[in-house]
Amino acid sequence: MALIAPSILNADFTQIRSELEKINEADWLHLDIMDGHFVPNLSFGPGIVEAIRPATKLPMEAHLMVSAPEQFIEAFAKANVQRIIVHPESTPHLDRVIRQIKSCGCEAGVAINPATPISYLEYILPEISIVLVMSVNPGFGGQKFIPYSLEKIRQIRKLIDNNYSCDIGVDGGINLENAGSLVDAGADLLVVGTLLYKAEDPLFIIHELKKIAGRREAKA
Ligand code: DX5
Ligand code: ZN
Repeated sequence: MALIAPSILNADFTQIRSELEKINEADWLHLDIMDGHFVPNLSFGPGIVEAIRPATKLPMEAHLMVSAPEQFIEAFAKANVQRIIVHPESTPHLDRVIRQIKSCGCEAGVAINPATPISYLEYILPEISIVLVMSVNPGFGGQKFIPYSLEKIRQIRKLIDNNYSCDIGVDGGINLENAGSLVDAGADLLVVGTLLYKAEDPLFIIHELKKIAGRREAKA
């Protein structure tokens, strides 16, 4: 059963409590952290995450699209996120950052940009709980899905299925038309932002996504 992780990047922050209630039947809350350096956009930091923690019962994953993520790990762990996902393109010391995340008691994940080869994952796969396949160039919500991401998901699924227990997340440009092919390709978690926050009825969208996500049998 693939999981649904709404991104609040494009939520209405003037009423974040009700925006969180709208998606409370999802599985994870996806927090897009941007520094205006690693990606050409600025979003929010650990203070906002700490503030919204009591407003949701969902486990939270921080997607760090920041340079030198090692400087932020403790702050997000303190903000009570369950998982911290970093980019290998953002630090020369990926192994050290993954160990730092786990030493703070959080699950560790790696997000790879569209053009980043799967080979970047080779030595770190045994150490992480999720690979987040970026299906847009990171920095903004509402972008179009990059088609070659689909084959990349299939390749990573093949690599993981024979050797590791790590999940595959997909992040960016996901909609009701392409979600099924992502689940069939092996996705275990779908990050959705604009699809939900531009919808009349986000809960209806979550229910539709869950029906599609059900196509992926639960891992033993
Ligand atoms: C992009 C972020 C994504 C994005 C998803 O840099 O990592 O999580 O906000 O939003 P949509 O679903 O609108 O592409
Ligand atoms: Zn993200």
